[in-house]
Amino acid sequence: MLYPLPVVMVSMAGRDGKFNIITIAWAGTVCTNPPMVSISVRPERYSYPILKETGEFVINLTTRELAFATDFCGVKSGREIDKFQALQLTPLEADRVRAPLIAESPVNIECRVRQVMPLGSHHMFLADVVAVHADEKYMDEKRKFHLEQAEPIVYSHGAYLCCGEQLGTFGYSVKKSDNGNGSTKRGKKL
Ligand SMILES: Cc1cc2nc3c(=O)[nH]c(=O)nc-3n(C[C@H](O)[C@H](O)[C@H](O)COP(=O)(O)O)c2cc1C
Repeated sequence: MLYPLPVVMVSMAGRDGKFNIITIAWAGTVCTNPPMVSISVRPERYSYPILKETGEFVINLTTRELAFATDFCGVKSGREIDKFQALQLTPLEADRVRAPLIAESPVNIECRVRQVMPLGSHHMFLADVVAVHADEKYMDEKRKFHLEQAEPIVYSHGAYLCCGEQLGTFGYSVKKSDNGNGSTKRGKKL
């Protein structure tokens, strides 16, 4: 019941050079320094042995435009189809891993597995982030990245939702003159 969740498309390359994509909601940032992430994958997934054997994957963030592809990669298996081809997604060469980036995604995070933890239904792949790519299209003249312009999506209780209105920015709750909603001060406690 811990929702909403990021929903990501995880891309990989098998030893045979074949690419695959799996949709993952059990994904998280786990450490800033060194930068690390985790994804949890069921061993019965076609993707599981690829991730385990190669120890490499790319996390691709999802957007309104990628919602259909995100769902498709979460219900179809690479055992039967080539998901890149079926969805006309563009694989790009990564810098540090053999797994491809998905060009249509605004942010690609290259990961190298450090440890696989069998937890039960899912095994957690704890991984180091070895490179990150952000689409120049969302970069302003000051090199600030505007992910909101890519319309990122989240997954909540079985539904894909677009992130809506901005409610505040980091630290706004303690700034004297800004509570994030335009008014400057709340009333006295009664
Ligand atoms: C929104 C969504 C989230 C999912 N999250 C996970 C997950 O975190 N871990 C997992 O093992 N499978 C998850 N799945 C299921 C896999 O994506 C699905 O079984 C997929 O078809 C497996 O692909 P593969 O057989 O090519 O590996 C999710 C599916 C959807 C639709």
